[in-house]
Amino acid sequence: MATRTKSERLKAERDAVLGRGVRTLNDFFVAHAEGHTIRDVDGNEYVDLTGGIGVHATGHRPESVVRAVKKQADKYLHLCAMVFNYEPYVELAKVLRDIVPLPDGKSALFNSGSEAVENAVKTARAFTKRPGVIAFHNSFHGRTLLCLSLTGKYNPYKVGYEPFVPHVYHAPFPYHYRCPPGHDEDGCADLALAAIEGIFHVHSADRIAAILAEPVQGEGGFIVPPRGFFPGLRKLCDEHGIVLIDDEVQAGIGRTGKMFAIEHFGVQPDLVCTAKALGGGLPISGLTGRAAVMDACVPGSIGGTYGGHPLGCVAAIENVRLIQKALPAGVRLGDRIGKRLAEIQRDHPIVGDARGLGCMRAIELVKDRKSKAPAKDETKAVQREARDRGLLLLTAGWHDNVIRLLPPLTMPVEAADKALDVLEASIAAVEKRR
Ligand SMILES: Cc1ncc(COP(=O)(O)O)c(C=O)c1O
Repeated sequence: MATRTKSERLKAERDAVLGRGVRTLNDFFVAHAEGHTIRDVDGNEYVDLTGGIGVHATGHRPESVVRAVKKQADKYLHLCAMVFNYEPYVELAKVLRDIVPLPDGKSALFNSGSEAVENAVKTARAFTKRPGVIAFHNSFHGRTLLCLSLTGKYNPYKVGYEPFVPHVYHAPFPYHYRCPPGHDEDGCADLALAAIEGIFHVHSADRIAAILAEPVQGEGGFIVPPRGFFPGLRKLCDEHGIVLIDDEVQAGIGRTGKMFAIEHFGVQPDLVCTAKALGGGLPISGLTGRAAVMDACVPGSIGGTYGGHPLGCVAAIENVRLIQKALPAGVRLGDRIGKRLAEIQRDHPIVGDARGLGCMRAIELVKDRKSKAPAKDETKAVQREARDRGLLLLTAGWHDNVIRLLPPLTMPVEAADKALDVLEASIAAVEKRR
């Protein structure tokens, strides 16, 4: 184990001044980050596949993003979009209009994914004049109280924070690996869609403002829904005048090999939430939607002191350009990682499933492949083992038994291959100890 004298001292200071709810996965303190690597304050180097939980699609500190931020800092920092007009805000809205998979996108800008989701729900309610929102089991939409209410997993996010916002209903997300036996992908999607019709029976479709879904579930374990699911959701929304909200906060902006993950399913949403990878490391988020829906909000009811901060806007404008350029390489890298994970699944019985799209890849660990009992402790052990070998990974999943990989789209293939060697060696070490 590396010596972490300085990190240990800082950790003690940290624990004395930070509230218990703020948990940090790694104990060490970071001194420097570049591309796919992180160096700690004691000089240890790591390969980072945690990517700021999906932020670093172009790696840490992309050069031209840093340059754009510095240039903007010399002009003005904060103005407040509710008080002054400034060009970067409008320019970013134009960029979003041009990339979202809907024809006449208008935007509002915020700071975080949670704010984008909150405002999507507010906007859908203003447009439909209805209260209800349907979200999904195993989803994650953020930590504000509305977003927590929408999130489809209790522990740890919701513990102690009741009561939640009313008129939020949860339906099962089609999770094919754990769908009841006897259901192919189409059958799995049909089950989930039927459950939504069940909610309509209980709460009435004409009281539902929005259906909110992640196109690929992120915190839920990188679950890619069956092909027919989103077209089915779109159909239900059209039949009942419901707004389809696409939460692309984790899966969007190039992560899955397309600019928006929902493009894999050939569906146009009504509202799209973006954050994370949008800003290339700066806090910025967007809500972009059909003009008629976005214009339903009363002037002054949408915004926030820092929403659409100039530094975030210029970072995002540059970062989207970088991602557009990096997409083909990202697709090739994602395919390569996907193939390797399938081989790891073939050779290691603990790996029950390997899945994902583009550079959003995961493996699900199980006690044995027949029962599919979640191997939560083993998942943590693989994560620890990899960290001790210099590779940083995140876990995820309904049962906390998924290891997710979030490499930069720009990561060199040799570096990705080496990281996967370390992942496989870590899995082998944990299997050996069982
Ligand atoms: C799909 C999704 N939506 C919303 C959020 C919340 O974003 P933030 O943490 O920026 O508020 C997240 C965060 O992980 C997310 O993955």
